[in-house]
Amino acid sequence: MSGEPNIESRRRFQDWHHILAMCSVMVAISGGLAYFFLSVNLIPNPASAERMLIDRFVRILFAIAGAFFGVILTVFTYALLFFRAQPGDESDARPIRGNTILEIIWTAIPLIIVILLSFHAGKILDQMMVTDPHHGTTHTVYSLGAFVPGREAPAPVPQKELQVDVVASRFIWRFGYPEQGIESSYELVVPVDRRIVFRIRSQDVIHSFWVQEWGPKQDAVPGLSPVLRITPLKTGQYSVICSQLCGFGHTAMTAPVRVVTAEEFDEWVQEKRPAEQKGPAQGTASAATSASTSPPPGTHVMIDLMAQNNSFDQNTITVPAGVMVMISFDNRDKGVPHNFAVYRTPEAREQIFAGQIIVGPRRITYSFMAPETPGSYFFRCDVHPKTLTGTFVVK
Ligand code: CUA
Repeated sequence: MSGEPNIESRRRFQDWHHILAMCSVMVAISGGLAYFFLSVNLIPNPASAERMLIDRFVRILFAIAGAFFGVILTVFTYALLFFRAQPGDESDARPIRGNTILEIIWTAIPLIIVILLSFHAGKILDQMMVTDPHHGTTHTVYSLGAFVPGREAPAPVPQKELQVDVVASRFIWRFGYPEQGIESSYELVVPVDRRIVFRIRSQDVIHSFWVQEWGPKQDAVPGLSPVLRITPLKTGQYSVICSQLCGFGHTAMTAPVRVVTAEEFDEWVQEKRPAEQKGPAQGTASAATSASTSPPPGTHVMIDLMAQNNSFDQNTITVPAGVMVMISFDNRDKGVPHNFAVYRTPEAREQIFAGQIIVGPRRITYSFMAPETPGSYFFRCDVHPKTLTGTFVVK
């Protein structure tokens, strides 16, 4: 009898050892997992303030899930290692018949987490959609820009939102800039660090506007004109992708996107305005750049290029260095926009010439000066930068 308290206290001491050891492992694994998920970029190439907000929320979700996974994994593994039945031990474990406090705790904790997360998600949605109540369409981007790692937040100057009308139809995207007087462009060009309001419409079936690096998607539903607000934070080239199955041309329903500086955007607007206002009714119109259509003989070359069934009829074009190149471009794809553009390399960072995009069937003559440096350059259709490509050789 006298030895019993001794055994009891020794067992308690051992229990404490186990609890302490298990908790240490638990803190290390859960903390490690939470830290890992908070710091890792799960989805590559974020390029808009809205995407940053969503990504951060996803990281918090994964960190919480990771911490819980660590707790469960540790208890399970610890029990397997240290409390398994000894060989020959046929006895049952001590039965547990319900534990009200424990049940309340494990119901309350997830409930509180879910409620807090839903409030946080609501706040993010609000940040993504809300406009400044006093200025109507202005928005301050400084709080959003602060999420780009290694970059200073833009100056806290409220900027007017830029309105872009998106019109989806099978299987083309068109972009209008009502404030800039640009009615329709097949390329989406937007300035960096400024909030864009996309008003999205469809002329036929349901499509969906999505730029992967920008995050949110928005369906284009006939009869409705939903709005999507995006603040691009990185210059570069992207793609609008239709993410709603809309027919046989769905996979080809993409449009080129360029995020440029505010100055470059103004230049583009100036260039675009007169060319686009001529409209597509001109038939065999010349591009705005072909002011001198009859240069002195010997200094220019004429090249026929055809786009049909979503491919060019030639994949190599050879011209002498420094001459004026005239491309007689024949787009035979009915209802499909194409153009001809030359770049320094297949990465298409350095543009040498980009012709106006025309919807087939239509012909156009582009003219531009060939590079002075002989070499192998790259040409493509900007609307189909992956499939309509070729080599532009300068000799
Ligand atoms: Cu439009 Cu898919």
